[in-house]
Amino acid sequence: MDREPIGVIGAGYVGLVTAAGFAELGHEVWVREIVPEKVESLGRGEVPIHEPGLPELVRKNAERLHFTTEMGDMLERARLLFVCVDTPPTYSGDADLSRVEAVLSELGDSNEHALVMKSTVPVGTGRSIARRREEIGYVSNPEFLKEGSAVDDFRSPDRVVVGADEDSAEYADRVEALYAPLDAEIVRTDVASAEMIKLASNAFLATKISFINEIANVSEELGADVREVARGMGLDDRIGPKFLQAGVGFGGSCFPKDVQALKQLAGNTGYHFQLLTAVIEVNELQKRRTISKLQKHLGSLAGKEVALLGVAFKPDTDDVREATSLVLAGRLAGEGANVRAYDPVVGERARGMLAGATIAGSALEALDGADAAVLVTEWQEFGELDWTGEVKSRMRVPLVVDGRNYLDREELVAAGFTYEGIGR
Ligand code: UDX
Repeated sequence: MDREPIGVIGAGYVGLVTAAGFAELGHEVWVREIVPEKVESLGRGEVPIHEPGLPELVRKNAERLHFTTEMGDMLERARLLFVCVDTPPTYSGDADLSRVEAVLSELGDSNEHALVMKSTVPVGTGRSIARRREEIGYVSNPEFLKEGSAVDDFRSPDRVVVGADEDSAEYADRVEALYAPLDAEIVRTDVASAEMIKLASNAFLATKISFINEIANVSEELGADVREVARGMGLDDRIGPKFLQAGVGFGGSCFPKDVQALKQLAGNTGYHFQLLTAVIEVNELQKRRTISKLQKHLGSLAGKEVALLGVAFKPDTDDVREATSLVLAGRLAGEGANVRAYDPVVGERARGMLAGATIAGSALEALDGADAAVLVTEWQEFGELDWTGEVKSRMRVPLVVDGRNYLDREELVAAGFTYEGIGR
C-alpha cells in the first residue's frame, strides 16, 4: 500500500520524533526547518538533541527523511503538514504563537493542505485559525511524548487524540489512518476539546506531583515515609502508581509552561483557577526546600562547598528548561555557597546557566572536598557511584540531600553519612 507523504514543520524535539516515527512506518517525510545548519547536520544523519534511540531511527530511515529549509519543497510533496514549532511562554504566561503565525503566513492560499497541530496551543487557537484561513484544513493532534522515552512513546502511545471540526473531517480521517499501524486507542473529537485534553492532562499530572510533594513535606513532620504512602495509595486503581514520586519539584518544557498557560487561559475568561495557582506555588517552594535541609546540618552556607549532581530537569535528556538545578544554583549562590555542578549529558553547556557555579568534569570531581552533595537529577550514573568508599573518602562532610529519594538510604547511613531525603 502506498503511504501518504507527510510534512513536518520544525525539526525540534517533537518534530524530529514525529518525522522519524512516520518514516519508520514507511512514509516519505519532508521536514522543513528554518535553521540551515540544523538542516545540513540532519542531512548527514547527525541529531542535535539527546534522545535515546532517535539518532538510530533517523539514520535507519534516512532514505525517507528529507530535510529542507524551503517551505515550497514540502508544500509541493505533502498535503498533511504537522506543525511542531515552539510555543514558549511570554512574560505574561500566555503562549507565544508567533512561530505558528509565521507558518500560516508562509502557506499562501492553498486549498489542498491541512495543518495538523502538534504544537501546544491555547484552547481556541484552532477555531481562530480555521476562521481566518477557511481554505486550509485544520486538525488538532496534540503531543504526549515524554523526553527520554519519546521514541517508545511514539510507537506505543496511550492514546492518539485527533480533533477536527466538520469542514476538516476528511483530513482528520487521513490523520487517523496514519496512526492505524500503531494500534492505539484513537480519541476523535472537536478541535477545542482536543486542545483542552492536552493542557488538562499536563495540568493533572503536575497536580499529582505537587500533591505528593505536599504529602511528603507533611510526612517529614509526622514521621511517615512518603514512598510507603505512595506505594499504598498507588495500588488503588482509581489513583494509580505513576507520578507519585516526591522530589525537588517538576521542571521541563511542558508542565511549568502548560499549567501556567491553562491558569492564564481560564483567567482570560474571568475564571480564577485556584487549584492550579496552588500547584505552581507548591512547585516553586519545593524547588527551594533543599536550602533549609542543608542549613539544618551546616548552619550558614557561606563558603561551603556544595556538589550539585544533575543539571537536566530529568534523566536521559539534555533539556534544562525550568530545571530545579537552575533555581538551586541561584539560591545557593545567594547564600554564599560555592557550587560545583556535574551532569553526564548537559556538560559544559551548563556553564553560564547556573549562576556562579563551577562545572565539574565528573561526579567525583564535584564531590571532592564537598561539605554536602545534593542529588537533583536521578541519573543512573549517580546510583552507581561508590558512595560508601570513594565518595565518602573524598567528601569533607558526608552529607547527602537526595532530592529524588534515589540512593540507598540504609547503606549510606550505615556508612556514616547524614542522609536527607524527601518526605521520609
Ligand atoms: C511531560 C508529559 O509527561 C508529556 O506527556 C508531555 O508531552 C510533555 O510533558 P516531560 O516534560 O518529558 O513530559 O517529563 P515527565 O517525565 O512528565 O516529567 C516532568 C517533571 O516532573 C520532571 O521534572 C520530573 O522529574 C517530575 N516528576 C515526574 C516528579 O517530580 N515526580 C513524578 O512522579 C514524575
